[in-house]
Amino acid sequence: MKTIAILNHKGGTGKTTSTSNIGAGLARLKKKTLLIDIDPQANLTEGLGIRDTDVSIYNAIRDDRYKTPLPIIELSEYLHLVPSSLDLLGAELELVSRSKRESILEKLLEDVKWDYDYVIIDCPPAMGLLTLNALVPSDSVLVPLEAEFYAYKGIDRLISIIENVQFNFNPKLYIGGVFITKCNSQRVLTENIKTSVKKHFGDKLFDTSIRVNVALAEAPVTGKDIFQYAPNSNGAIDYSNLVDEILMKV
Ligand SMILES: Nc1ncnc2c1ncn2[C@@H]1O[C@H](COP(=O)(O)OP(=O)(O)OP(=O)(O)O)[C@@H](O)[C@H]1O
Ligand SMILES: [Mg+2]
Repeated sequence: MKTIAILNHKGGTGKTTSTSNIGAGLARLKKKTLLIDIDPQANLTEGLGIRDTDVSIYNAIRDDRYKTPLPIIELSEYLHLVPSSLDLLGAELELVSRSKRESILEKLLEDVKWDYDYVIIDCPPAMGLLTLNALVPSDSVLVPLEAEFYAYKGIDRLISIIENVQFNFNPKLYIGGVFITKCNSQRVLTENIKTSVKKHFGDKLFDTSIRVNVALAEAPVTGKDIFQYAPNSNGAIDYSNLVDEILMKV
């Protein structure tokens, strides 16, 4: 059983797209996978076709007696989802006075995680209490970096935050890898970014980059993952390769 948080403080770097398609890719290989949406935007939940859920992760998180289990939706035999909802927006403030507020998700996962080969958590683009709750139960962090000049900004800070969580809350946490998303191989910029990320992260940088592919943006509108929506697309090929690397390296 491995728990992986998909994290980048910057918005729109492909966290949700990656969570959904890495999860679907693992499930295709018959790895039993639980996806957790801990972002109030609920993009992962909606992108997998779940709209207007009655209960979400919020109901479980807010129950300070831990009587409400994590709601789990079975998307398919091997792919399950804990959905999010907009209610979660208030959670950070509501939890301020709660004891052990950084390990609420960890406690909720204790009961269910052993049913899975992988638990993958889609983090919000922020470094608050929800993200901390994602990092505390995780074994590793995967960082999707957008192939843009500014993508690199703040990454040192991100790493020091992860180290801080490791030191204070979760000694087993490590950076499992970094991968480049929305990559356009025709652009010199992308090559420059790859070179500098490689310098910085060495073999933490995955060989696979995710190319810009419109099918990846279209799939969630239909509630499907890339393997269902466009199995022959570059998006499906790239995420399938990324999943192979994750299975080998993380
Ligand atoms: N490889 C890609 N090719 C084309 N579009 C992509 C690709 N990856 C992601 N997108 C699109 O870019 C946008 C941002 O992606 P996504 O929602 O996965 O990022 P995010 O990091 O989860 O964002 P947020 O920080 O808001 O949670 C979405 O519209 C998504 O469909
Ligand atoms: Mg997202």
